[in-house]
Amino acid sequence: MKKLKARPLVIPDRYRHATFSTYDPKRGDPVALEVCMDWADTMPSHIGRDTDGRGILLQGSPGLGKTHLAVAMVREAEAKGYSTCFIPMYSLVMWAMNRFRLEDGSEAQKEWFRFQHYLYECDVLVLDDAGRDRKSPSGYVDDEIDGMLRHRGNWLMATHITSNLPVEEWSVRYNPAMASHLHEVCQIIDVQGTDDRTR
Ligand SMILES: Nc1ncnc2c1ncn2[C@@H]1O[C@H](COP(=O)(O)OP(=O)(O)OP(=O)(O)O)[C@@H](O)[C@H]1O
Ligand SMILES: [Mg+2]
Repeated sequence: MKKLKARPLVIPDRYRHATFSTYDPKRGDPVALEVCMDWADTMPSHIGRDTDGRGILLQGSPGLGKTHLAVAMVREAEAKGYSTCFIPMYSLVMWAMNRFRLEDGSEAQKEWFRFQHYLYECDVLVLDDAGRDRKSPSGYVDDEIDGMLRHRGNWLMATHITSNLPVEEWSVRYNPAMASHLHEVCQIIDVQGTDDRTR
């Protein structure tokens, strides 16, 4: 476990109930549940030096409980004392784009750099809803996200990702190298089922 001072794990209120025990395998995907629970049970073998450094990419259509399962995993990591973070991709993109408006040397800019450092270095990161973000005109934000994932992957820090975007489409939405990198740093799970929101 790294000696990075943990920030409080902030989970959106809508997912305050989301744990493994509240995920109903009959309503959802029992295989995805099992894979996520297995990751949580074997967590020390996925985070940091001498581990596989792998997280889980939960891909699938809306309402299948992908965010629910990612929240359950990151909660377990927090409970075990790992430094953790949950961030929706659209929030990350907004942060990354707004940083250009921050005054050089200002407290707000320093806070962004502290937060960015935490995203790069925390033990377990959930990047929720990847692919929903719009492509930035310069491609700069995509490069920043690519860089963050690459850094985390290189230093064997686990990143969980949820997405509606099939992994094959990451090549087009982001870039082919990023799509390839995902196979190395994530176990890719095709979540099956029907939209729980429309039950
Ligand atoms: N199998 C399940 N058991 C209990 N609750 C579930 C299950 N599947 C989904 N839910 C609930 O349904 C709601 C929608 O699930 P969630 O937001 O995790 O879906 P998602 O796959 O992330 O969707 P999207 O792709 O739109 O982000 C949440 O409140 C979640 O807790
Ligand atoms: Mg989701």
